[in-house]
Amino acid sequence: MNRMSTASLRLNSPWLALLLSAVILVTSITLTVMASSGQAGVGAPLPDAIGLSSLAPGFRGPQHCAECHPSEFYDWSGTTHAKASFDPIFREFLHEAQEPGECFACHATGYNAVTGQFVMAGVTCEACHGPYRDSHPGQSMEMAASDELCGSCHTSTLIEWEASLHGQAGIACVACHAVHTQKTHVAASADALCAGCHEQSTRDAMHLAHKGENIRCISCHLSRPEDQAAQAVSGHAVTGHSFAVSSDVCADCHEDQP
Ligand code: HEC
Ligand code: HEC
Ligand code: HEC
Ligand code: HEC
Ligand code: HEC
Ligand code: HEC
Ligand code: HEC
Ligand code: HEC
Repeated sequence: MNRMSTASLRLNSPWLALLLSAVILVTSITLTVMASSGQAGVGAPLPDAIGLSSLAPGFRGPQHCAECHPSEFYDWSGTTHAKASFDPIFREFLHEAQEPGECFACHATGYNAVTGQFVMAGVTCEACHGPYRDSHPGQSMEMAASDELCGSCHTSTLIEWEASLHGQAGIACVACHAVHTQKTHVAASADALCAGCHEQSTRDAMHLAHKGENIRCISCHLSRPEDQAAQAVSGHAVTGHSFAVSSDVCADCHEDQP
C-alpha cells in the first residue's frame, strides 16, 4: 500500500485502525512471549532481545515501524521471516549446531560476528532496511531491492539464480516475490506469474501435453531435494531457482520412465 492510502486509511477508518492496532498488539505480545520462552531452550545467545530495553543503539524494533507502516507490518508479521528465530525445525537443528551463535547471522537481526550476539529475534524490518534513522521519515531508510540483499542470506538461491537465464536477463527476486508477504506476486497461481512472461514459449508438444492437468509450471521447473530441512542449514539448500528441469522429475509422475 502506498503512503497516501496508508495515511488516509488511518485517518478515515478508525475501526480498521483499531483492528490493525489490535493485530499489532497481539503480534508483539506473541513475539515477546515466544522470545522469552525461547530463552530457556538454548543456552547462549537467545533473545530477551525483542524487549526494547536491550536493543542496541539505533535499532528500534518492528513495533516502532508499525506505528506508521501498519500494512507492511501486517504483511510481514505472518511470514517465516518474522519467525526465523523460532521455527521449530530451526530450533531442532540449532540444538545440534556446533556454533549456534552463527546461525543468527541469517535467522535474526543485527548479528555481530565479533561478539556472536544479535539485536533482535527474527528477520525484521531493520534486517533489510538498516537500523532506524532518527530523523526518518525526513531521512530515508535503506531501500535496496537488490538480489544481493536477499542473497546475503539466501546464498544458495542467489548462486542458482545467477547461473540461470533469469539471473542473466536481470529478472530480480522481487520481480517474482513480494518482499513483505514473501509470496510470489501472483499468489494464487505460480502459473499465472510465469505466463505473464512466457505465454509464447510453452506451446511445444511437451508443454501442451501437460496443460490443464493440474500440473503447475513449478512441478517441473522448481524441484528441490526431499531432505530440504537438513540441507537448508546455512542457507546452502538447493531451492530449484535454476528453473532447469532435473532429470528425475519425469519419473515422479511417470513411473514407467527412467
Ligand atoms: C526481507 C527484507 C525486508 C523486510 C524484512 C522488510 N522489508 Fe520493507 N522493503 C524491502 C524491499 C526490498 C523494499 C522495496 C520493494 C520494491 O522496490 O519493490 C521494501 C519496501 C518498503 C517500503 C516502501 C513502500 C513499499 O511497501 O514498497 C516500506 C514503507 C517498508 N518496506 C517498510 C517495512 C517495514 C515496516 C517492515 C517490517 C514490518 C519491512 N519493510 C520489512 C525489504 C524488506
Ligand atoms: C513517525 C512515522 C514513521 C516511523 C516510526 C517509521 N516510518 Fe518509514 N516512513 C514514514 C513516512 C511518512 C514515509 C514516506 C516518505 C515518503 O513517501 O517520501 C516513510 C517511508 C519509508 C520507507 C520508504 C523509503 C523512504 O525512506 O522514503 C521505508 C523503507 C521505511 N519508511 C521503513 C521504515 C522502517 C523499517 C521503520 C522502523 C524501523 C520506519 N520506516 C518507521 C514514516 C515513518
Ligand atoms: C537476514 C537474512 C535474510 C534476508 C536479508 C532475506 N531472507 Fe528470506 N529468509 C531468511 C530465513 C532465515 C528464512 C527461513 C525462515 C524459516 O523457515 O525459519 C527465509 C525464508 C524466505 C522465504 C521462504 C518462505 C517460506 O514460506 O518458506 C522466501 C520466499 C524468502 N525468504 C524470500 C526473500 C526475499 C525475496 C528476500 C529479499 C527481498 C529475502 N528473503 C531476504 C533470511 C533472510
Ligand atoms: C522467475 C520467478 C522467480 C524469481 C526470479 C525468484 N523466485 Fe523464488 N520462488 C519462485 C516461485 C514460483 C517459488 C515457489 C512458490 C510456491 O511454491 O508457491 C519460489 C520459492 C522461493 C523460496 C522458497 C523455497 C522453498 O522451497 O522453501 C525462496 C527462499 C525463494 N524463492 C527465494 C528467492 C530469492 C532469494 C530469489 C533471488 C535470488 C528468488 N527467489 C528469485 C519464483 C521466483
Ligand atoms: C518478469 C518476467 C518473467 C517471469 C515472471 C518469469 N520468467 Fe522465466 N524467463 C524470463 C526471461 C527474460 C528469460 C530469459 C530467456 C528468454 O528471454 O526467454 C526466462 C527464462 C526462463 C527459462 C529458461 C531458463 C534457463 O536458464 O534455461 C525457464 C525454464 C523459465 N524462464 C521458466 C519460468 C517459470 C517456470 C516461471 C514462473 C515461476 C518464470 N519463468 C517466470 C522472464 C520471466
Ligand atoms: C512436465 C514438465 C514441465 C512442465 C509442467 C513445464 N515445463 Fe517448461 N520445460 C520442461 C522441459 C523438459 C523443458 C526443456 C528445457 C529443460 O530441460 O530445462 C522446458 C523448457 C521451458 C522453457 C525454456 C525453453 C523455451 O522454450 O524457451 C521455458 C521458458 C518453460 N519451459 C516455461 C514453462 C512454463 C511457463 C510452464 C508452465 C506454464 C512450464 N514450462 C511447465 C518441462 C516442463
Ligand atoms: C547464510 C545465511 C544462513 C545461515 C548462517 C544459517 N541459515 Fe538456516 N536458513 C537460511 C535461509 C535463507 C533459509 C530458508 C531458505 C531455504 O529454504 O533455503 C534457512 C532455513 C533453515 C532451516 C529450514 C527451516 C524450515 O522450516 O524448513 C533450518 C532447519 C535452518 N535454516 C537451520 C539453521 C541452523 C541450525 C543454522 C546454524 C548452524 C543456520 N540455519 C544458519 C539461511 C541461513
Ligand atoms: C506432476 C506430474 C508430471 C510430471 C512431473 C511429468 N508429467 Fe508427463 N504427464 C503427466 C500427466 C498427468 C499427463 C497426462 C495424462 C497421461 O496421459 O498420462 C502427462 C503426459 C505426458 C506426455 C504425453 C503422452 C502421454 O503419455 O499421453 C508425455 C510425452 C509426457 N507426459 C512426458 C513427460 C516428461 C518428458 C516429463 C519430464 C520432463 C514429464 N512428463 C513430467 C504428469 C506429469
